[in-house]
Amino acid sequence: MRTAVAALAAGALFAAVPAAAQDPARGQTLFTNTRGAIGKPVGNCVACHANIGALREMIRNRGGKPDDAVSVRRVLQRAIDGAQPGAAGVKAQYRGVFKAKDLDDLAAYIVRAKLSSAPRHEALAQR
Ligand code: HEC
Repeated sequence: MRTAVAALAAGALFAAVPAAAQDPARGQTLFTNTRGAIGKPVGNCVACHANIGALREMIRNRGGKPDDAVSVRRVLQRAIDGAQPGAAGVKAQYRGVFKAKDLDDLAAYIVRAKLSSAPRHEALAQR
């Protein structure tokens, strides 16, 4: 519950940021309601990655930098392209579905999402 409220608050903050190259608020929508936002029968990221702390840890384990949008985007792109062993099967459903802008926004959200998830999730991800 707390997390949901914090996420909403963070979403409101994002919305106040003027439209830039990357739009984390849109990224959040893409993350939580991927199917609705894209209009294709794909899984919602949040269904498997509700624990953002764990997702950020995964990115780190793949050699990415969870605080760097360019790096996060690269890891995500590799996963979708199937060049990343492990997540290939799950991520293949997104091949040809996302536009460059979608990936930019998703990465921007994942980078900032730590603000609304952080300690508890990070702690859980470590155990
Ligand atoms: C059906 C479940 C599922 C969905 C839906 C899903 N993922 Fe994943 N994701 C996984 C699994 C499983 C892994 C790999 C976990 C591991 O390697 O330990 C993963 C790994 C990742 C990684 C780490 C890179 C890698 O290759 O391991 C990123 C980044 C990621 N997912 C982002 C996303 C995003 C963004 C979405 C929505 C567009 C999404 N995922 C949707 C299950 C899912």
